[in-house]
Amino acid sequence: MLFRLFLSVLLALLKGLSLGSPVIPETHVLSEVLDYSHMYADDSVVKSFVDELVSLSHSSRNISKCDQCVTRLAVGKSLSLLRPDLVPRVFTQWCQQTQYMSNSSCVATFSRNTVKSSYTGTNFADMLSLMDPFGYDGQLYCCYKESACAKPKTPNVTLSHLWPAKQAKHFIAPEPAANDTFNVLHISDFHIELDYTVGAEANCSSSMCCTPHSRNTFANITSHPRKDWNSFYNSTYTDDGFVKGSLMDVFKNDSIWAPATTFGNYKCDAPEILINSSLDSIANFSFENNLDFEFAIFTGDLVDHDELTLTGYEMTVESEEVVFRDIKNKLGDVPMYPVMGNHDTFPYGELGQENHGFSNYFSWNSELMADLWEDYGWLTPKESQYARKHYTGFSVETKLGLKVISLNSNVWYKKNHYAYWNASQPDTFGQFEFLVEELVASEAKDQRVWIIAHIPFSGDALPLPAKLFAEVVERFSPYTIANIFFGHTHLDQFEILYSGPGNDAKTIENVVASSWISQAVTPWVNNNPSWRYYSVDKETFSVMNAYNYYTQLNETFSNNGAEPVWEFEYSSREGYNITWPETAPLNATYWHLVASRINESVEFNQIYENYATRFSPYVPDCANSTDCSLNYCYVTSFTVDQYDDCVTGVKSKR
Ligand SMILES: *[C@@H]1O[C@H](CO)[C@@H](O)[C@H](O)[C@H]1NC(C)=O
Ligand SMILES: *[C@@H]1O[C@H](CO)[C@@H](O)[C@H](O)[C@H]1NC(C)=O
Ligand SMILES: *[C@@H]1O[C@H](CO)[C@@H](O)[C@H](O)[C@H]1NC(C)=O
Ligand SMILES: *[C@@H]1O[C@H](CO)[C@@H](O)[C@H](O)[C@H]1NC(C)=O
Ligand SMILES: *[C@@H]1O[C@H](CO)[C@@H](O)[C@H](O)[C@H]1NC(C)=O
Ligand SMILES: *[C@@H]1O[C@H](CO)[C@@H](O)[C@H](O)[C@H]1NC(C)=O
Ligand SMILES: *[C@@H]1O[C@H](CO)[C@@H](O)[C@H](O)[C@H]1NC(C)=O
Ligand SMILES: *[C@@H]1O[C@H](CO)[C@@H](O)[C@H](O)[C@H]1NC(C)=O
Ligand SMILES: *[C@@H]1O[C@H](CO)[C@@H](O)[C@H](O)[C@H]1NC(C)=O
Ligand SMILES: *[C@@H]1O[C@H](CO)[C@@H](O)[C@H](O)[C@H]1NC(C)=O
Ligand SMILES: *[C@@H]1O[C@H](CO)[C@@H](O)[C@H](O)[C@H]1NC(C)=O
Ligand SMILES: *[C@@H]1O[C@H](CO)[C@@H](O)[C@H](O)[C@H]1NC(C)=O
Repeated sequence: MLFRLFLSVLLALLKGLSLGSPVIPETHVLSEVLDYSHMYADDSVVKSFVDELVSLSHSSRNISKCDQCVTRLAVGKSLSLLRPDLVPRVFTQWCQQTQYMSNSSCVATFSRNTVKSSYTGTNFADMLSLMDPFGYDGQLYCCYKESACAKPKTPNVTLSHLWPAKQAKHFIAPEPAANDTFNVLHISDFHIELDYTVGAEANCSSSMCCTPHSRNTFANITSHPRKDWNSFYNSTYTDDGFVKGSLMDVFKNDSIWAPATTFGNYKCDAPEILINSSLDSIANFSFENNLDFEFAIFTGDLVDHDELTLTGYEMTVESEEVVFRDIKNKLGDVPMYPVMGNHDTFPYGELGQENHGFSNYFSWNSELMADLWEDYGWLTPKESQYARKHYTGFSVETKLGLKVISLNSNVWYKKNHYAYWNASQPDTFGQFEFLVEELVASEAKDQRVWIIAHIPFSGDALPLPAKLFAEVVERFSPYTIANIFFGHTHLDQFEILYSGPGNDAKTIENVVASSWISQAVTPWVNNNPSWRYYSVDKETFSVMNAYNYYTQLNETFSNNGAEPVWEFEYSSREGYNITWPETAPLNATYWHLVASRINESVEFNQIYENYATRFSPYVPDCANSTDCSLNYCYVTSFTVDQYDDCVTGVKSKR
């Protein structure tokens, strides 16, 4: 049916192209026909394709949104095989002409990328040339990228051929042996805003605030509501420490509602001075308490959230280099194991498979990162070789014998176009195979493993990789996988994996594993800057406690440019008033008890929200709104399908 529709579109296209031009023999099949396309001017090819895409959506044709989307992909694919360079023009024009999205979104989504901007039309054309529009690929794309189709059923595939059977001993975690721990720092989501400008609009109407191009168009500004703010100093950190600059008069500009203050604002990413302040607070804390970090983990995102138009190649590279340099400056000899986030790439969010043609667009990044991490002494030359070959992912063994496996989560990111090609097959990137090989090797020698990655699997991930990851985690927990760490959401959260499908599986008997999702340093959006460290059992590498630190950012709006005050926020073992043996680690069973409390009581749901946002002025009010109603689903889902099913259940009860 769909295919017939596609054929009729093609025939119309061919007619359009043949007007007054060479006569195309009727017997020719599509590819041969399009071989003639060099005979037509690009403009006429573009016009014919745009006209046909436009006509697909004519109401008289009564074609469902989903069928339109899939057919568009099929038409685009036929063009991408011969003239991939014309795909961005055709789709941008079609998009703008039909007002499928706003003009600027059309440009960002379908135009060719340039060195100065992260438009993704080039990657869209690559994807078209590889994908199967009429199969799972097309349905998945039209669901997640264009919201035109319903979510297709997740294919029932497995990775189980990659591992040996699970033995009885693998169902039990080793017990922490003695009261003997070491410390690990966890930092995440810095998002440096390179063009952060003191005095610029901090309450802007769209995109990134606190930049020279930020504007407030909500209202005419008759008076500055923020006269009580006074921290407008061009301060900085030098090698010797914090330098308070000169006071700037920012109130004379009447087109600005809320002027950006020195250390950051809630609708802006982090100025470099805030990043340095957070790293300084870590170094000072470590010094003052005589507390050493054995190593640190960083769960991704160095680059800011500005519009794709303004997210260029050079600013991406500069952001990556500046943040890692600042981390190295302040952490000194503490080794740090990083992952790359969805922002740490160019164009934004994209990553191509190593074995399929387009990976050289992205190899500059793994080369750059591997060089840098090796230079800083975080990875050995052998380990950095891994990062070069595995999309910046790697495996390291720490001095105490723990294995840390770092993965690049763009492999499962729903905005990555290359993830829509052959999407019903497990592991087109080969990254899960790498993960499983490492886990099998560790299991065989009774070694415990931490997995670090940026994007958690229940949100912003594609359903199939999420399901496969859960399968891997279930197979290797709790014996080998000791902990899993993510960032990305900017919220202090956690997630639990239960064995067995459905909400009725969420019992204490079914608990399998859990992950830690770190809070962020960037205040974007509406959170206080924060970091944490873990106290870790030396024998089993289980986490015994997590200590969270934060700064109440709004205090820096009116303190005459003084440095932020960083304070203890809460510890995970004490934070939910759970009775838990002192000798037991904070494992999935512990988090199951926390989740049950969140489910049963508004008071504990509120505590969870307070921690999630670090007591920011914008923390949702759980008692008087539905803002917190999906928290239980979030913390008790480990895959996209589990989360979606849980949310459907909650909404149907309302
Ligand atoms: C459009 O298609 C739908 C489903 O195929 C059908 O139910 C409906 O009657 C059609 N409407 C018109 C105006 O043809
Ligand atoms: C969007 O683009 C189309 C086609 O280029 C143009 O006709 C239209 O005026 C634009 N709309 C806006 C709001 O700029
Ligand atoms: C998935 O495939 C396995 C093995 O082929 C089969 O045992 C199982 O029943 C299938 N599950 C579903 C939900 O189709
Ligand atoms: C572990 O050691 C700490 C500090 O030395 C002590 O406060 C704590 O009570 C000990 N816990 C156990 C279970 O022995
Ligand atoms: C931002 O502006 C909006 C409307 O212009 C206003 O309602 C809001 O209170 C402002 N927020 C801040 C923090 O100034
Ligand atoms: C702002 O002022 C201008 C000129 O006085 C007026 O035209 C416009 O409607 C006002 N906008 C709002 C949002 O009040
Ligand atoms: C702040 O700006 C003033 C003048 O604009 C300049 O003299 C001073 O050196 C700057 N201070 C810092 C720390 O950048
Ligand atoms: C006032 O702010 C606006 C918006 O940021 C900017 O375009 C303008 O140049 C500023 N005016 C002055 C005098 O600084
Ligand atoms: C914590 O638990 C204890 C007993 O288990 C109870 O007495 C106390 O009220 C609880 N505190 C809070 C804040 O719920
Ligand atoms: C968590 O630790 C407790 C106490 O040691 C243990 O009873 C439980 O089985 C553990 N849970 C998991 C999922 O390993
Ligand atoms: C900052 O926000 C917190 C949390 O809402 C609030 O308790 C505190 O009073 C605020 N501080 C200032 C200086 O506004
Ligand atoms: C929210 O609800 C609580 C308890 O129901 C009530 O005491 C409080 O006044 C409410 N707060 C607001 C801002 O409505």
